[in-house]
Order: sequence, then C-alpha cells, then structure tokens
Amino acid sequence: MPFEGTISVNVLTVNLGDSSYNIIVERGALASLGQQCRDAGLKGTAAVISNPTVSGLYGAAVVSSLASAGYSVVQIEMPDGEEYKNSTTLNKIYDDLLDAGVDRSSFVVALGGGVVGDVAGYAAATWLRGIPFVQVPTTLLAQVDSSVGGKTGIDHPKGKNLIGAFYQPRLVLIDVDTLTTLDRRHFRAGIAEVIKYGVAIDHAFFDFIEASTAAIMAMDPDVLIKIILQSCQLKAQVVELDEKESGLRAILNYGHTLGHAFESLSGYCGLVHGEAVAIGMVLAARVSVAKGLCTQEEYSRIRSLIVQFGLPVTVPQFNRQELLSVVAADKKSKGGTITFICNSGIGMYAMVHHTPEELLTLGGLEA
Ligand code: NAD
Ligand code: GLY
Repeated sequence: MPFEGTISVNVLTVNLGDSSYNIIVERGALASLGQQCRDAGLKGTAAVISNPTVSGLYGAAVVSSLASAGYSVVQIEMPDGEEYKNSTTLNKIYDDLLDAGVDRSSFVVALGGGVVGDVAGYAAATWLRGIPFVQVPTTLLAQVDSSVGGKTGIDHPKGKNLIGAFYQPRLVLIDVDTLTTLDRRHFRAGIAEVIKYGVAIDHAFFDFIEASTAAIMAMDPDVLIKIILQSCQLKAQVVELDEKESGLRAILNYGHTLGHAFESLSGYCGLVHGEAVAIGMVLAARVSVAKGLCTQEEYSRIRSLIVQFGLPVTVPQFNRQELLSVVAADKKSKGGTITFICNSGIGMYAMVHHTPEELLTLGGLEA
C-alpha cells in the first residue's frame, strides 16, 4: 500500500490464516501486555526472556502487567550482545526453561531488541517442539522489522542467522516509549531498516522519511508511530505473500547480503546490524547504478539520506578473499550465484543474479 502520511489505526494484522496475529503500536503499551496476551488466547505461565539491560528497564513493568492479568511469570536472562546470539546462549535458555517447569501450556515473551527476539523466538520454536511466543520489541530495529514476520534464529561462527526457523509470534506489542532509553547509535541503526522499506518498496515513504529527518531524530512520538506502522505494514504485506521466503520475501534483505558479510567479518561487535545494513544499502545502490537500474542522482539521494541519519557509508577494509567466502555463504547463494536485491529507481526492487566476485566489482570494490 503506498504511503500517504497518515495512519489512524494503531493495530495491524498479519494475515497468515491460522497463524495470523496482531501488531499493536502505542505509547505506554507495556501496561496492557497482560490483557493483550489474554485477548490473544494465551494461557499458562509466561516465560519472559530478556537481557539485563532491558530487563532492568522494563522487566518490572512487564511482569506487573502479566501478573495483573493473572499469569504466573518466570524471568530468564541471556547476556546482552550479538556475540551471544549463539548455541551456548540457546542451551542455557533451554536449561532455564526446564528448571522453571515451562511446559507446553506456557508461552514465551521476548522482551528486548532483535537479538533477544531472534533467540527467544527460536527457543520458543524449538522448546517441546514449539510453544507460543509474544514479541515485545524495544529497539527501533526490532519494532520496524525483526519482531514481525517470524524469522527466528541464532548465528553460526561462519555466518549470521544460519540456524533458525520460521515461527510466527502470537502477538507483537510495540511500546514506542521504550525508545526513549535506547542509545542514539542503536536508534540510528534502526533507521537503516526504515530507509530500506522506502528504497526497495515505497517511494512515498522514502519521501516522507526524507521530509521528516529532523522530527525522526528528535524522536517525535507521532512521527515514530507513523514510521513504525508503515514499516510493519509493508513488511506484513510481503510476509503474507511469501512467509517462508520462496521468492518475494528476499526483497526485505535489501542491503543485507553485503551488510551481513561486514557484520560477520567485524566479529559481530565492530558494526551493529543496522550500520552494516546502511553500508550494504549504499553498495546495493551502487550495484543498481552499474546495472542501469538506478540513476546517479537517485543513488546520491539514497546515500545522502543514510548520511543525514549519521549512519556509516564507507566500506570497511577487509581481506577480499575472506569477504568473498562470507558472501558466498549467504543463505541466498545457490550454485555459486547470489540472488541480490537492487533498487529500481527509488521505491521499487529488482532481483539480479551474480557471483560474489561480480557483485563486489559491480559495487565498486576493486580486486
Ligand atoms: P540488539 O538486540 O543487540 O539491541 C541493541 C542494544 O540495545 C542492546 O544492548 C540492547 O540490550 C539494548 N536495548 C534494547 N532495547 C533497549 C531500550 N529500550 N533501552 C535501552 N537499551 C535497549 O540489536 P537490534 O539492533 O535490536 O537487533 C539486531 C539483531 O536483529 C541482529 O541479530 C539481526 O540479525 C536481527 N534481525 C532480525 C530480523 C528478523 O526478521 N528476525 C530482521 C532484522 C534484524
Ligand atoms: N528482515 C528480513 C525478513 O524478515 O525477511
């Protein structure tokens, strides 16, 4: 749906038949979590999985809301950071779920950013062959992207998100007020995923983001709600058409193929995900220019918007052979060729197929 700048409803539905669920976007939404879980038909014990940072800020509010709605609650913590999105953390969560007696009549609440959401979602997908889960995303990135659509998983030392499952949440509850405690670096990183939707899917949304840079950076709650709702709506529309990424859903990975490679090579701690995606989008736009899909002016507009939000655009120095092997391990690689998402102008995607070597060259990364 093209963006018209006004969205009045704060509840969206991801329509996936029996796996359909609501996304609620509101200021102060945490207070209604317990009731919303009841409305979503969730029963039993709520196992809240978070990390010490987010739990310290919002754990009490979440527990109180769930308890008020009559749930018994257990709290499980994983360490904070992408470097802990791995099998060691996952196994510790399984131990904690077992110790807490979390059974098939229980559900998981993922409280945190994309790392907690992905890991807790995968724990829910696999614990006792799957128990329901709720996403309560607290970073902008998680609110506009990772909490919606059911991609859950962990990293492998050789590549990001190589282990995982498509497993839809039963509810996504977004409290925009949680962004007030998020540091600026991670706030900006979330904007990268917002820009992604504008460049790859929705020209009018790109225009809106461009016109609202100051209000977004000032964290105007009304503007934040608009960009979160539109991002979730665009993502939901794609997921509804292609839940398991047999084709179309790959467009949501605009900027991610090379971004993931930089993120992996930086050891999951040099660049945060959104920053790596920002650099990946600049390269994707360069590939698009080289393929004749996008003009130099459109490329400059995209790059300039990324720069305005203080996101990085310079490709880090990496060994080319290492970079090639990480790109080749991308999940969208088949028989040595990668399906790479380009932008056709601004607001439309195009899929091209190239070897990693060709992609680096098209992106201007000379041998
Ligand atoms: P993150 O989860 O590491 O959160 C960033 C930091 O902010 C962490 O230190 C966290 O503890 C802290 N934090 C979270 N909420 C806070 C709040 N309200 N106030 C203060 N601090 C807060 O990083 P992220 O950018 O949210 O997520 C990145 C991850 O998301 C990556 O692993 C990426 O692969 C994944 N991802 C998944 C999907 C998907 O579809 N599943 C999509 C995009 C990204
Ligand atoms: N973030 C990409 C996807 O959910 O498909």
